[in-house]
Amino acid sequence: MRYAIFSDIHSNLEAFSAVLDALKQECIERYFCIGDIVGYATNPSECILMVKDLAPVIVAGNHDYGACGKLDLEYFVPRAKEALQWTQGILVKEEFDFLCRLPLVHSEENFVLAHGTLDAPQEFYYLNHFEEADRSFAVLEKQVCFVGHTHRPGVFVERDGEIFHKALGVLELEAHKRYIVNVGSVGQPRDGDPRACFVVYDADAKTIEVKRVEYNFSLTQKKILKSGLPESLALRLAQGK
Ligand SMILES: [Fe+2]
Repeated sequence: MRYAIFSDIHSNLEAFSAVLDALKQECIERYFCIGDIVGYATNPSECILMVKDLAPVIVAGNHDYGACGKLDLEYFVPRAKEALQWTQGILVKEEFDFLCRLPLVHSEENFVLAHGTLDAPQEFYYLNHFEEADRSFAVLEKQVCFVGHTHRPGVFVERDGEIFHKALGVLELEAHKRYIVNVGSVGQPRDGDPRACFVVYDADAKTIEVKRVEYNFSLTQKKILKSGLPESLALRLAQGK
């Protein structure tokens, strides 16, 4: 079984389209989305529709809950809040309902998904440091936990209580280790690489591979500027931060 696992599309139609094109070559059988379908860019409805077409498993991101009113917009920094208020003016009732119904956690036989951290998924904490990884490993009952939220791909590895972090290239899963894999962001990477990011998990080969794909971010930028959203939301797409 080959799984495509991605996160943080953030209404970026151009990035998500490029990822879906790339996935056509990957013989994917199931799709998993780790939240933040909406927010920041200007095509929330299109992105929701395209995600639904994949018949994926989806867990909620903070922007999904913010857009549908399940999370107070005061939680967000000003430019994120502004984009969510703009998004609320675009979405229709079915889309609000869809976002509100998304669960916080999903479990499969060998892995689990959560947007921020596994120990407190409703808080949408960033899983950046060893202490946060430690708390998520403490409640992880599967071998792998996939997360998003930071928009930066990488992996925490745990073996016999010791945790280390490394960049995500091709990860070969080993039976005596556990992993928290951050799949990066489709629509707003923040690791200095502007290319859209996603992961392919081959359950038979026991490998997890990060993939990057170029997309036409200048079109996304134009649409953000034309919509009157903060200029910084456009500029950051070119910088990958
Ligand atoms: Fe996000």
